[in-house]
Amino acid sequence: MSTIPVLTIDGPSGSGKGTISRALAARLGWHYLDSGALYRAVGLAAAWADIDLSDADALLRCTEESHVQFRQASDPAEEPRILLNGVDATDELRTETAGAAASAIAALPQVRAALTTRQRRARRMPGLVADGRDMGTVIFADAPYKVFLTASADERAQRRYKQLKEKGVSVKLDSLLREIVARDQRDAQRAVAPLMPAADAVTIDTTGLGIAAVIEKVLALLPESLRQR
Ligand code: DC
Repeated sequence: MSTIPVLTIDGPSGSGKGTISRALAARLGWHYLDSGALYRAVGLAAAWADIDLSDADALLRCTEESHVQFRQASDPAEEPRILLNGVDATDELRTETAGAAASAIAALPQVRAALTTRQRRARRMPGLVADGRDMGTVIFADAPYKVFLTASADERAQRRYKQLKEKGVSVKLDSLLREIVARDQRDAQRAVAPLMPAADAVTIDTTGLGIAAVIEKVLALLPESLRQR
């Protein structure tokens, strides 16, 4: 068992995981793993290569051959740039198309297995904040600190809408809500590593809560020695 501390932040899309996890990593001075970006990258790589989402063998090959690099900005609270096979795909990875492709390929056990080692390698000193769906249940099941973030589907759709609008992406709120609900259902009902809180995770409902309030709630779960930096 590793002694390197891990804080897992799991939850559905739009629960604020990304923003909260990055801010926590910056605050603690820990590394940050955006596992969703890995799934999105493989989904996007499959789309670029015109691979049918039902062709499990081709998807597995694509997963093994995809090279994903995270380039952290000097401010750790900022979103890292993500290079897929050497090409900056950061903006394309955030589209709902990439999200839906990610969710489809994420249901394949072989793809999940192929990405397991890559994710575990992110556990480095002085610690790791791991953001995803199965960080606390599968990838870092031995993590000492586990959080499951939730929020109502309406609020999550509103947040995504705002986020995309700020980035200049035009979307309709009602179609976003439908996509979010469909994606949650697929992620929660799949046979391998379904979206659910680990038995030892603390669930925080972020509906109506600001980012700072959520961060404080999570920090309160950590021992004083880690919070003081
Ligand atoms: O967190 P996100 O929206 O970037 O994730 C995109 C998709 O990837 C999500 O619908 C489910 C999948 N995913 C997963 O299955 N396991 C993870 N640890 C992270 C993401």
